[in-house]
Amino acid sequence: MTGTIIAIAASYLLGSVSFSILFARWLRKIDIREHGSGNAGATNTLRVLGKGPAIAVFLLDIAKGVVAVLLGRALMGDDYAWLPVVCGLASIAGHNWPIFFRFKGGKGIATTVGAMIALAFVPVLIAGMTAILIIALTRYVSLGSMIFAVLLPIILAIGGWDRPMIWGAVIVAVLAVVRHRKNIVKLLNGTENKLGGSKKGEP
Ligand code: G3P
Repeated sequence: MTGTIIAIAASYLLGSVSFSILFARWLRKIDIREHGSGNAGATNTLRVLGKGPAIAVFLLDIAKGVVAVLLGRALMGDDYAWLPVVCGLASIAGHNWPIFFRFKGGKGIATTVGAMIALAFVPVLIAGMTAILIIALTRYVSLGSMIFAVLLPIILAIGGWDRPMIWGAVIVAVLAVVRHRKNIVKLLNGTENKLGGSKKGEP
């Protein structure tokens, strides 16, 4: 039981290390949450800091999800087969509501990619390729992100994956849509930021 609590708490703390906030602080001495879309994530890092920092943030945010799942796997006993899934969710929660940054974080997509890659590689590949196609066609990262998250539980259910995985992915999808609620409004009224386009909706 102690190992379970440690794994979940460590995953949340790891997720709370918000690399976009740190990079913006280090490189430009600004709070990224006051610039661009106001989101503490890789897409907004691209807007505010440029390509290099955005790639670094994206990879590091993915790594948080991967490490959390591996930690859960290392510490799970026979009775706790769900622990890697819960650790993945804890890292996403940390990214979205980081304890180190007044609980104002990102939307959790890169960390979701990391956690889900470690849990279900092929479904992530299918959902990821679909999301990339959507982003390439529309240039809306938010739309691709949401489609990625919503597709995951569907692909897992079709593939006959076990319940902790499917329910974990359902929670991930709900979190992703809720965190993108402002993007949804902007998508509907045509003011959403496009990848490589001019910045709209400054906070
Ligand atoms: O993963 C975040 C992305 O889907 C949207 O980011 O900054 O355009 O709100 P942003």
